[in-house]
Amino acid sequence: PVDLYGRERRNSEGVDLSVGEERARLAAAVARLKPVEAGALVGGKLTLGCNAPPMTSPADPDLVVGKASEAVKPEIDAAFARARAAQPGWDAAGGPARAKVLRSMGDALEAERERLIALCIREAGKTLPDAVAEIREAADFCRYYAHLAETRMVPETLKGPAGESNVLELHGRGVFVCISPWNFPLAIFTGQVAAALAAGNAVLAKPAEQTPLIAAEAVRLFHGAGLDPDLLALVPGRGETVGAALVSHPDCDGVAFTGGTETAWAINRTLAERKGPIVPFIAETGGLNGMFVDTTALKEQVIDDVVLSAFGSAGQRCSALRLLFLPNETADGLVEGIAGAMDALVVGDPADPATDVGPVIDEEARGNLAAHLERLEREAKVVRRLPAPNRGTFFGPVLAEVPSARFLEREVFGPILHVVRYDPARLREAAADLAASGYGLTLGVHSRIESFAEEVRRLVPAGNVYVNRSIIGAVVGVQPFGGEGLSGTGPKAGGPNALSRYCLERAVSINI
Ligand code: NAD
Ligand code: ALA
Repeated sequence: PVDLYGRERRNSEGVDLSVGEERARLAAAVARLKPVEAGALVGGKLTLGCNAPPMTSPADPDLVVGKASEAVKPEIDAAFARARAAQPGWDAAGGPARAKVLRSMGDALEAERERLIALCIREAGKTLPDAVAEIREAADFCRYYAHLAETRMVPETLKGPAGESNVLELHGRGVFVCISPWNFPLAIFTGQVAAALAAGNAVLAKPAEQTPLIAAEAVRLFHGAGLDPDLLALVPGRGETVGAALVSHPDCDGVAFTGGTETAWAINRTLAERKGPIVPFIAETGGLNGMFVDTTALKEQVIDDVVLSAFGSAGQRCSALRLLFLPNETADGLVEGIAGAMDALVVGDPADPATDVGPVIDEEARGNLAAHLERLEREAKVVRRLPAPNRGTFFGPVLAEVPSARFLEREVFGPILHVVRYDPARLREAAADLAASGYGLTLGVHSRIESFAEEVRRLVPAGNVYVNRSIIGAVVGVQPFGGEGLSGTGPKAGGPNALSRYCLERAVSINI
């Protein structure tokens, strides 16, 4: 396969889970996983603070995966100072030299695949296929951004008057702060870091407090892949303390953030209050994603795609389906079919290859979902609720019917799908209710009529539109990913313009 520029670039092949030997190898990797340590990792040296509580698996509160401590102010200051000193050399080395390190990182991720998959399962509660996809996507980001570093981060000669040379150069901005969520603890963590590095920046990376261990492994792999440790520090900790300290630091030259919309607002406020240079803020945030089905849609395909989009990854994807719009005429049959397909889902141990739905990330997430379910029981109609294990933070998938999209004002992050029945003659009103949320991440359409899909697209702005397929699982270099409005600023991750806001432009005109 070739990429968007017609150049050879391959995405990772991952692991074929239909092969018994592969499954057995991964099961062995999970069984032999040793506890992992995470703390401030500055200049390649890990400091595990004396207050480093054990990190347990969301699937089993007795299963200790490792321990982690938070970065403290002197470590943050030291990380910024080292990064500031190392960045000019990295920028001057040029795109092709940086690409080499990123490609080595892609290879290192694949070489360490089994252990990383095991850690994703244990620390984040990822199911086996999701954990495999996580490592694949992380490697894909490294190679894709290596490709952009080579092809885009090079000086461009522009035509001007005779006797004058005009060149546009792209440079790193300095030190980027990368703040990532727990739901893609390796892929998004690595993707942000790889993009910032590819553009010529040094990075201070803050993973989510729920998943510092896998992030620490990723940083060690970057260093092992040939990256000067001063160019990438890990600064784990809580968002309100460590995250806020990073964003408000005078040496922060840009922020790449993925997480909730409310957090993005908080970071935006902090940045607005900073004195000194105005720095870019790249935010990829939440979604209230809808799918519109019409009467021409193929029932079985709709059911498969809906179940995967809503309940895959326990609904803990920003791209996941939250609101399903069904035409009155076929709604009964589709709701019945979806509920039937839900009954076949296996909710349980994420390390078991038979499992479809693993745990939600923590007690707080489960509590939020339980509170929302109570509201659904009071004010709407719950059609199906699957049972879930008592140990660990599991939440059984739910199918409910609500009167309109306006029932939901904000993202509900987990395996709860809301059905809205609509009259096709009043498609505009149903779509307007969804668009009124202000989010704009993913949108699905199931129809055999092209003009229907076009109309839905016109009515509901969204960064990623999927027709007659599931709405999750964007592929690097194939479906550049990211939203608009309350869902984010762009540029899209895994797309040709991904580096644009990580770098600055300098135009140099020379009278020869
Ligand atoms: P979150 O917003 O709670 O946390 C994200 C990160 O921000 C964490 O590292 C957290 O510690 C940090 N943070 C929190 N407060 C901060 C502050 N005041 N200053 C600096 N940093 C702070 O999100 P989450 O619960 O980790 O992740 C789930 C959310 O992420 C969902 O809303 C989901 O839709 C979104 N998400 C979006 C995308 C996308 O590409 N659009 C991808 C994945 C997840
Ligand atoms: N990029 C992830 C997806 O498409 C969030 O599901």
